[in-house]
Amino acid sequence: MQQKYIGQPVSRVDGEAKVTGSAKYAAEFNVPKLRYGYVVNSTIAKGKIIKINLERAMAVQGVIKIYTHENRPSTAWLSFNYADMDAPPGKPFVPMHNNKIVYNGQPIAMIVAETFEQARYAASLVTVEYDKEEHESDLHAHLTEARLPKKGLATLLKPGPPKPKGEAEKIYEASPVKAAGTFVHGIEHHNPMEMFASTVVYEGEKKLTIFDKTQGTINCQLYVANVFGLPFKNVRVISHYVGGAFGSGLRPQYQLFLAVMASLDLKKSVRLSMNRHQMFTFGHRPATVQKTKFGANDVGKIQAINHESIGETSQFEDYTEIVVNWANMLYPSPNTKLQYKLKPLDVASPMDMRAPGGATGLHAVEVTIDELAYQAKMDPVDFRLLNYTDMDQTTEKPYSSKELKECFKQAADKFGWKNRNPEPRSMRRNHKLIGWGIATGIWEAMQLPTRAEAVLTADGKLTVSSATSDFGTGTYTVMAQIAADCMGMDLADVSFKLGDSDMPFAPISGGSFTAASTGTAVQAACLGLRKKLLKKAQKMVAAFTEAEFDDIDFTDSGLHLKNNSGPPLSYREIVAATKEKTLKSKNMGWPNAMKQRKFTRATHSAVFVEVEVDEDFGIVKVTRMVTAVAAGKILNPKTARSQILGGMVWGISKALREESVMDHRFGKFMNDSLAEYHLPVNADINDLEVIFVEEDDKIVNDLGIKGLGEIGLVAVPPAIANAVFHATGKRVNDLPITMDKVM
Ligand code: MOS
Repeated sequence: MQQKYIGQPVSRVDGEAKVTGSAKYAAEFNVPKLRYGYVVNSTIAKGKIIKINLERAMAVQGVIKIYTHENRPSTAWLSFNYADMDAPPGKPFVPMHNNKIVYNGQPIAMIVAETFEQARYAASLVTVEYDKEEHESDLHAHLTEARLPKKGLATLLKPGPPKPKGEAEKIYEASPVKAAGTFVHGIEHHNPMEMFASTVVYEGEKKLTIFDKTQGTINCQLYVANVFGLPFKNVRVISHYVGGAFGSGLRPQYQLFLAVMASLDLKKSVRLSMNRHQMFTFGHRPATVQKTKFGANDVGKIQAINHESIGETSQFEDYTEIVVNWANMLYPSPNTKLQYKLKPLDVASPMDMRAPGGATGLHAVEVTIDELAYQAKMDPVDFRLLNYTDMDQTTEKPYSSKELKECFKQAADKFGWKNRNPEPRSMRRNHKLIGWGIATGIWEAMQLPTRAEAVLTADGKLTVSSATSDFGTGTYTVMAQIAADCMGMDLADVSFKLGDSDMPFAPISGGSFTAASTGTAVQAACLGLRKKLLKKAQKMVAAFTEAEFDDIDFTDSGLHLKNNSGPPLSYREIVAATKEKTLKSKNMGWPNAMKQRKFTRATHSAVFVEVEVDEDFGIVKVTRMVTAVAAGKILNPKTARSQILGGMVWGISKALREESVMDHRFGKFMNDSLAEYHLPVNADINDLEVIFVEEDDKIVNDLGIKGLGEIGLVAVPPAIANAVFHATGKRVNDLPITMDKVM
């Protein structure tokens, strides 16, 4: 196989479409006679709707129909409990199902009008009378009521913590070196640039084409078909471009349900978009409270790991994530006790947000490790190297590859770590305190079965497709690179298509598993195509008749006999000789379970951070950051670097800025806009550097792909927190680290 494009910094093949505006997003597809929806959201957190006053709204010119729980079509929702590929155990939220309010902001009415403006104006005229009930929304007030999560299908990918080992609490108490902490994370909301929208095109009786903002077109197709009782083949979901998602598009959101419901009822095309405030009315990263107690012996070897987390969930679903499993995957300890519990509250179900669980759990783990290193009077890098392992202690399996040591080495050199004075408050620049901190990151390298189809046409062009997603991650680009190399072709002759449920099956795209899953599928489809090419060639040219598959090189000039016993036969000639003038191969890319099962597969990172702290005002500024990442084969260092840079910025945001603040009297998020939900701006982002330490991993898959995404984020918040401690001598374990907490 040629290695001409894999590993090269190819620019995004979809870059031009995106910057010129020709890339269309879900709310940008116009069809004749499109109707527009607008949602009214509840203003209480719990209770019943007594009356919705619609008279004034109905009187607005252009209003066609207003849906509420009282008049919604009864055909919606089949009785069986299928929800979607990422649904946690429980009963999924059904918009306008009945008069019950289960969280503040829940959709309770939808106006459909001739224009968007009419619908929006009419929505503002709707008033609602409620029978209010007492609600619970504050996790901190209900910690003692937390319980173990229920199990379900989605928990297959999110295993609970392993059983306790040894006597972690007792050994901790007896340890000569100890560190403990309570770590508090607030709620965060997804705020991708593109807000949720569905344009539902009514194609006739029980037949729809839907432009949706999603990370899984087939997931939405199955959901819509199941919920509305439509034949699968009559539901086509398209999402060619996604303006950011990072978990928010893993589950179908309520605008899809409502737009489809209205379209089927009115027999008209309907668009429903959310506004920025409504982006705070479905899932979120859950609030959590974690406690750690780590103990080491007098030479600094870890002896006990206690880590527990309590997260919030809704009253109707047990949303789970992997928060507490990481410590023992990184640090061997003979005694471990890991606990994960949930407390249901009157809130929307939480949902996956970039590095779900990892971004939360590793903050607690890596800050506790930092403190343990201080207590052991060791450098935090040396401490981690002393407690290093090539074996996942949870599964007792070795890592398929793990270049974390090299990550430490290269990042430390680049950062200049050796010049650090370990003493907190010892380093200054002008009038500011300087802090240097580090943290380790880990994320799973998962792979799921995915299909792809490769099609060669007589003009010598190759089109490969799979119903996967590119939500800014670079899927379009790296898959084209893989296909070009598999076929030995010029990249200019290759295109990759995605984001259409009519394409070959792909699961939801997320969790850093898309590159490995789809990449393997693309490789399988191209392999199938090469075999077909040879079969055809054998019928066309005598020299190929006797040739075995391994005797052939597949190159830009066509099929080439390795022994040079004849001239090459071009793909064009072969395809031109077929009846259909195309050659196709559709194949499944399976994870290689036989190889994989003896290993734990994970990506790792080492993050080095410098902060500058203005003590008078408590302002923390991240002035420098170096991230070294070991994530198998880097398919494209340019798009990969972008992924990691995005994670680093997100990490700054998570550590210092982001939090959805709820007024618990109302159970409502008060800063539900980009004006008040704080994010870093350009002026907050300084010197960021990314290093890739390549791993040659033949266990994960043939191409050695582990996947990149979440690994860019996970270690950044703890590295910043550790740097703040080094600067100030103060442990702020309550994220975000805002000025008031530093002062
Ligand atoms: Mo992933 S939670 O889809 O960023």
